[in-house]
Amino acid sequence: MGQYEIIGGSPLRGEIRIHGAKNSVLPILAATLLCESCCVIEDCPYIRDVDTAVEILEHLGCRVQRRGSELTVDSTAANRWEIPPQLMGKMRGAILFLGALLSRFSQARLSQPGGCPLGDRPIDLHLGGLGHMGARCQFRDSVLYCQVDRFCPSTVALPFPSVGATENLLLAALSCPGETVICNAAREPEIADLMGFLRACGAELRGDGSSVLRIRGGKKLRGCRYRLMPDRMEAATYLAAAAATRGELLLKNVRPEHLRAVTNVLQEAGCRIWEGSGELSLHCHSLRGVSPIRTAPYDGFPTDAQAPVMAAMATAEGTTVFEETVFSDRMGHIPALCAMGAKISAAKRCAVVQGVPRLKPARACATDLRGGAALAIAMLAAPGRSILRDAGHICRGYERFDAILRTCGAQIQYTEGL
Ligand code: EPZ
Repeated sequence: MGQYEIIGGSPLRGEIRIHGAKNSVLPILAATLLCESCCVIEDCPYIRDVDTAVEILEHLGCRVQRRGSELTVDSTAANRWEIPPQLMGKMRGAILFLGALLSRFSQARLSQPGGCPLGDRPIDLHLGGLGHMGARCQFRDSVLYCQVDRFCPSTVALPFPSVGATENLLLAALSCPGETVICNAAREPEIADLMGFLRACGAELRGDGSSVLRIRGGKKLRGCRYRLMPDRMEAATYLAAAAATRGELLLKNVRPEHLRAVTNVLQEAGCRIWEGSGELSLHCHSLRGVSPIRTAPYDGFPTDAQAPVMAAMATAEGTTVFEETVFSDRMGHIPALCAMGAKISAAKRCAVVQGVPRLKPARACATDLRGGAALAIAMLAAPGRSILRDAGHICRGYERFDAILRTCGAQIQYTEGL
């Protein structure tokens, strides 16, 4: 799974250009199954989850080409509707092919998706919503069989604004003649990005960014050229790293309005934040504890920023309480932070972080994508040599993580396979 060797203790100083968003490109790659000609995705990140999505598309019969940061997908020859467990197990984003396969082939055969261990991650909202639209889904011997004669125009209310379920229902609705309404839809910017892509392919959709989405399906979709929105979680991670190391960072290719909940917290903690058009900078000389941070669906504090920001607050002056309301068990990074000298008392969904003057270097294992990034941030702040194992988790969602940090003065080196 690879490891990072980090010599921490020096401030990050420099400029980083943010890549296209992981959580946009995954549903968009699934959506290319519905396009009758080639799609070119611009600013596509070089990350392992994209590699997995490409493996799935090629398994289904699509032709995929990569040229620099452009990914071209031709799904005209796609002729399979089952995804093997070894591909499903690699990432949660694999479930996003369900809606597209049902739209294209009226059937799909999948299994429970893999992904970060963040507590229970059922797919009942996906299956319940698709069932309401007319699909018949059932698990037999841990294989998920789904069929639909034809989706019928309906109004589907999600009990919780699930990002993935919203995306699956959106893709399923595209093959349904008439209007489908999704209520209590997720409002994350990645949903609006998916809708922007689909509109560029000729789809008729309304409600971007709202909790009520209206899809007029049944139209053939053409291919298109589409630039991904910047990855707000990559940006939030690097901001947290700059704060943790008391550094100065200029981010380019960002949408500051997507990061407001995170920058508000960092500003309250004492960071100086400047916002420009497509740019954002952070200067940090000291950090202080902030009012309780409660994760929530957009536009609340994003759950994916909880671990990276906690790593920064571990050396703030004062105490900060974190409450994780989105996932049932997203505190896997805390034991390793405590082994580095952080003072954190935690329960399943709550953590009280009492800042300490400095962290100690350590050897630790990444447990998941954002938790791994949090440990790397703590190691960049801790003076001395640390080792972060199972670093493959980080490679799933951050392009050239170590190389980018080295351009800002970090001493970090990735070694494959250890
Ligand atoms: C997406 O996951 C993101 N992943 C996650 O990012 C992100 O943390 C999450 O949305 C919330 O913003 C991708 O987009 C690939 P959910 P998703 O469905 O779709 C429960 C990262 O680090 N739920 O909104 O899986 C679920 O268990 C990853 O980039 C059900 O109970 O998130 C969780 O508690 C991590 N039943 C909550 O809803 C369902 O059918 C939110 O899940 C679906 C979800």
